[in-house]
Amino acid sequence: MPVILGIESSCDETSAAISIDGKIRSNIIANQTVHEKFGGVVPELASRAHQQNIIPAVEQAIREAKVHKNDIDAVAFTRGPGLLGSLLVGTSFAKAFALARHIPLIEVNHMQAHILAHFIEEPVPEFPFLCLTVSGGHTQLVLVKDYFKMELLGQTLDDAAGEAFDKTAKILGLPYPGGPLIDRYAQQGNAKAFAFPEPQIPGLNFSFSGLKTAILYFVQQKEQEAPGFLQSRLHDICASVQERIVSILLNKLRRAAEEAGVRDVAIAGGVSANSGLRNSLITLGEHLGWRVFIPRFEYCTDNAAMIAIAGHHKYRAGDFVGQDVAPLARYSV
Ligand code: KG4
Ligand code: ZN
Repeated sequence: MPVILGIESSCDETSAAISIDGKIRSNIIANQTVHEKFGGVVPELASRAHQQNIIPAVEQAIREAKVHKNDIDAVAFTRGPGLLGSLLVGTSFAKAFALARHIPLIEVNHMQAHILAHFIEEPVPEFPFLCLTVSGGHTQLVLVKDYFKMELLGQTLDDAAGEAFDKTAKILGLPYPGGPLIDRYAQQGNAKAFAFPEPQIPGLNFSFSGLKTAILYFVQQKEQEAPGFLQSRLHDICASVQERIVSILLNKLRRAAEEAGVRDVAIAGGVSANSGLRNSLITLGEHLGWRVFIPRFEYCTDNAAMIAIAGHHKYRAGDFVGQDVAPLARYSV
């Protein structure tokens, strides 16, 4: 019954989790609020906050899991992709912990871990399955052949889906991160109120930068014609933007599932918390006869539970790294 300590520090959440025999026993997430007033994550501030948060987060994870540090069999950490300074904090902590306790060290790819979050709880998808991974930094269509055998079928050519939400929110005058706020306002709006353009990108790649520009010009023009437009129609704008982002994502997902010939279809990453995406995927799945897999909210955004689970499967495979391992800002799935 391996006990794994998972550490996540790739962006602006410091997280520590404990898994015992592949079951999550604790998942502590320390959010960083220092970035709000800057309208985005400030890397240097993120690294400093990780340094402050990491030891309390690990101690709490160990306490809540009701284990002792001597019980931990291995430590798994996010090696990348992410902010280098932030990754360094988690990597250095994990290395020191493994060295001090004479236990193996396991490196984890953050994007793979988002996908492997589907193995935290039953029911789990069957290999091969398709996963749309949508976060603040990535938008990827991945064919998952095995725990660590993944093929990238398509990705964004510019902004990520989360960025499309966050940058739109900024245009609309909403604070960072705006994705969850657009989701909330969209629930009271009319998604058919405004028609934003769907980019025509060949194959299974995505693009969101044209949509962002279209929204900016739309808002500027309407405000000029009728000052106060933005405030009075905020809910309808949010609903219409969300509807377009979701349709861009699901049209490609549908095409990828047809081409790959799979029926198990999953979403992962921060944007998979979006209620419009979750509901539309369920409807589409029923229509096409897919088995749809959607993570619980707490496993959508960045968390160490997914790192511990990925670590558990690497532990079983004996896939360890040495003390010379270094974090990677870019790390392909
Ligand atoms: O996976 P994640 O926590 O961090 C990265 O690895 O990037 O994803 C964060 C992204 C942010 O862009 C945030 O706005 C978006 O996920 N997000 C949402 C929602 N919840 C989080 N976007 C739309 N609707 C949501 N409910
Ligand atoms: Zn993430």
